[in-house]
Amino acid sequence: MAETLAILGGSPAVTLDASEQYKRPVEEEKAAVCELIDEGFLTGSGSGPPLQFEEEFKEYIGCKYVLTTSHGHTALASCYFAAGLGAGDEFIHPTLGYIGSYAGALHMGATPVFCELDPKTLLADPADIEKRVTAKTRVINPIHMCGRVCDMDALLDICQRHNLVLVEDAAHAHGSEWDGVKIGNLGHIAGFSCQGLTPRSKPVAGGEAGIVATNDRELYERALIFCHLHRTGAVEELTNPVYKQLEPQLLGWKWRAHPLALAIARVSLHCLPERIEKYIANREELAEKIEGIPGLELAHNYPKAKGAEIYGGLRFLYDPEALGGLTAEQFCEALNAEGVPMGPNGISHIEHLRSLYTKDLPGIWGEGHPGPANVPLPRYQEGDFPVSEGLRGRVLQMSGWIEAVPGVIDQVAAGIRKVVDNYKALL
Ligand SMILES: Cc1ncc(COP(=O)(O)O)c(C=O)c1O
Repeated sequence: MAETLAILGGSPAVTLDASEQYKRPVEEEKAAVCELIDEGFLTGSGSGPPLQFEEEFKEYIGCKYVLTTSHGHTALASCYFAAGLGAGDEFIHPTLGYIGSYAGALHMGATPVFCELDPKTLLADPADIEKRVTAKTRVINPIHMCGRVCDMDALLDICQRHNLVLVEDAAHAHGSEWDGVKIGNLGHIAGFSCQGLTPRSKPVAGGEAGIVATNDRELYERALIFCHLHRTGAVEELTNPVYKQLEPQLLGWKWRAHPLALAIARVSLHCLPERIEKYIANREELAEKIEGIPGLELAHNYPKAKGAEIYGGLRFLYDPEALGGLTAEQFCEALNAEGVPMGPNGISHIEHLRSLYTKDLPGIWGEGHPGPANVPLPRYQEGDFPVSEGLRGRVLQMSGWIEAVPGVIDQVAAGIRKVVDNYKALL
């Protein structure tokens, strides 16, 4: 039976509070921060609370080596240095990616080669990556976007056959798994971000911080010499005889995390397993309730992948043609009127169309320098990545819930169904 849509004057389908109900453990954060202030521990790495965080994160993900850093992008920059990336090398990054992910590689003079996304998973497409491997490729840098895990079997296979280093952008993927193994153990080296605050930011959040994780001793030592000037015990810890000759200043960057950030991140880490399980259960409940609705489905996950979209939220594949050409904006306006908090812009950051790759920006690298480390940047244009560009207007997003008001997921599903059943009234 036709119902009047709320946008056309009917009653909204969602009457309960659809916002996230999980509360940040603020009191625990305050206690952890005050403890450090009382102790006077406000700087340093390789000892005390920063080392404690590294040990706990290592134990949580089950990998051999962990280093904390100031941010996710400095963690990733350290990974690129560890991988030996430099001027003249190429690295492959999804075009629906993030410059903060690969800025380290860019400024080392390595050339970004973008790749397409798989239109169903919205993650880097391994088949397209393989087509872009050249004699200059050194690193593949996939993003486990919103905690959703890329096809690790395919990526590792490509890296093995072409002798490439897999630097995983795990900025959103603390606790995510592939075939039961946590991210940070699968590729060669991974960089995590701890930016923001629980529960909406990175799965482990402490304001600003980052983490490098690897099982490879050589990569760990290279990351360490790059980013941890004056880390307690660093020179003693190094085993590579060449690196061991460095002074405690190592290679000069002091990209360690602030101990206060790690104190907050530790509280976040402790409650992460619970948050992941609850988020996944709520997503599955919604997925079941909207199954078979024409024109809308959740982005596909690989069968071996497990993760929660704690950061970034749920992504939906929207097919306007199934609803008579109703645009994503029109569809979301009608959903919002029903009380369904869906947004039309599930795709942002189209990297190859940034001004860096489409415009001349004279002088930006210094007079007479064509690009970072004197390497010209590649040129791209609209149409170069038809699959990823074609996702504009076809990917919607909604936060999802760690804790939802009882009954609200039912109402959200009913609101979606109501708009889809009555879309013709909107044309
Ligand atoms: C995919 C991705 N990579 C890397 C980063 C960089 O992390 P940070 O902001 O901690 O430097 C972010 C931050 O949002 C990100 O979303």
